[in-house]
Amino acid sequence: MQMTPDRWTRTSTYLDDVFGREDERLATLMTRAVQAGLPDIAVSASVGRLLTLLGRMVGARTIVEVGTLGGYSGIWLARGLGEGGRLVTIEPEDLHADFARCEFDASGVGARVQIRRGFGLDVLPQLVEELGASSVDLVFLDGIKTEYPGYAASARALLRPGGLLVADNALGGGGWWIDDAPGANASRDAVDAFNRALAADDAFETACVPIREGVQIARKT
Ligand SMILES: C[S@@+](CC[C@H](N)C(=O)[O-])C[C@H]1O[C@@H](n2cnc3c(N)ncnc32)[C@H](O)[C@@H]1O
Repeated sequence: MQMTPDRWTRTSTYLDDVFGREDERLATLMTRAVQAGLPDIAVSASVGRLLTLLGRMVGARTIVEVGTLGGYSGIWLARGLGEGGRLVTIEPEDLHADFARCEFDASGVGARVQIRRGFGLDVLPQLVEELGASSVDLVFLDGIKTEYPGYAASARALLRPGGLLVADNALGGGGWWIDDAPGANASRDAVDAFNRALAADDAFETACVPIREGVQIARKT
């Protein structure tokens, strides 16, 4: 059996169809987002399902996300929260944050979601102060890829023992893949450094799930 580009595409479609199982609101969200002028760069349904599942597996009461876009991944994350839980999601673009606010409210998770307008590298250290160290159950990174190493420093402080650092694009993204030669793409190099640092860090147990563009999952020990 050989993996080919066509087989990879069919496999990704299979994963979304069998495991994604979006409801009507999620299935149509990115069509509305693109019509509103947002880029079509949300996670896939199968990654969304994984986010909900991971939140439930750690009994998440507080989740932090970097990179809200239109709220697609945020809705999946919010659905993984336990009773009384909250999602704090960080987004610098008003167009994206305004659109996401409407989608969170319309999907029934609005009361659980706080959108923080700003840059991840600025807001994450503020959250360490506001929420406290070791207070967060899951941090999901999906902002600027060159900033992943910087996000990881704050996530390390925010996460409680047993909490999860989850990062999208651990294997690739627009215009790059992890096996490209070092030095040609700053996002590839930053994510490679991020992956290797987490995998070698005694404070984390780390694995990477190669669905879509790769999801790194690191459990704080
Ligand atoms: C890949 S999209 C996020 C997709 C979203 N997580 C989803 O799957 O539905 C990246 C988002 O990060 C936002 N962003 C850009 N610069 C950022 C920064 N410095 N800090 C945090 N987010 C940033 C972009 O505006 C964009 O909405």
